[in-house]
Amino acid sequence: MTTPVQKQGQYTDSAQRSLGHLTLPGLASSVPIARAWLSGTLVGAGHGRLDDVLLVLSELATNAVRHSSSKLPGGRVMVRVSEVEVGLVRVEVIDEGSDDVPCRREPDFDRCTGRGLHLVEMLSKEWGHHRIGPICGCVWAEVPTRPGCLVSRPGAYQDS
Ligand SMILES: Nc1ncnc2c1ncn2[C@@H]1O[C@H](COP(=O)(O)OP(=O)(O)OP(=O)(O)O)[C@@H](O)[C@H]1O
Ligand SMILES: [Mg+2]
Repeated sequence: MTTPVQKQGQYTDSAQRSLGHLTLPGLASSVPIARAWLSGTLVGAGHGRLDDVLLVLSELATNAVRHSSSKLPGGRVMVRVSEVEVGLVRVEVIDEGSDDVPCRREPDFDRCTGRGLHLVEMLSKEWGHHRIGPICGCVWAEVPTRPGCLVSRPGAYQDS
């Protein structure tokens, strides 16, 4: 995983403009730091209505530090954000891998967990996950940042 740096305004491809990335320790305390960074980055890029995208980031980042090897000593997690189109941002959370797979659980009213990815599903236009290299995992979501952009889509997909 790269060093904790932030880059602004780089283009990853013709359809997607990178707004930056941030690498943090794989700790629960990194989640609010990531939220504050994302909020500032998106405001700086002119986006509004950030509640949904910040909640999605919180769920994905919390999962990374709870369910992946990023939680191990020295582990880290990276957040990347880019613009897919006007009013739609893609948040990617890259962790250090797991034998487990990000997957929505059946609601279990006896347990307090298993709801995070349901929220991600509801708030995202699309979400999914894939491996990066032999070890790392990436969970991503594309979230509208302006009213009128939300498109419901049942189910997520796993790209290779
Ligand atoms: N980054 C990840 N790496 C590996 N497994 C993951 C990852 N994110 C989620 N999972 C798996 O998907 C399951 C569902 O995730 P979800 O966020 O919906 O629930 P949770 O994290 O268990 O509980 P909650 O988010 O409600 O506190 C997790 O229990 C875990 O098994
Ligand atoms: Mg969760």
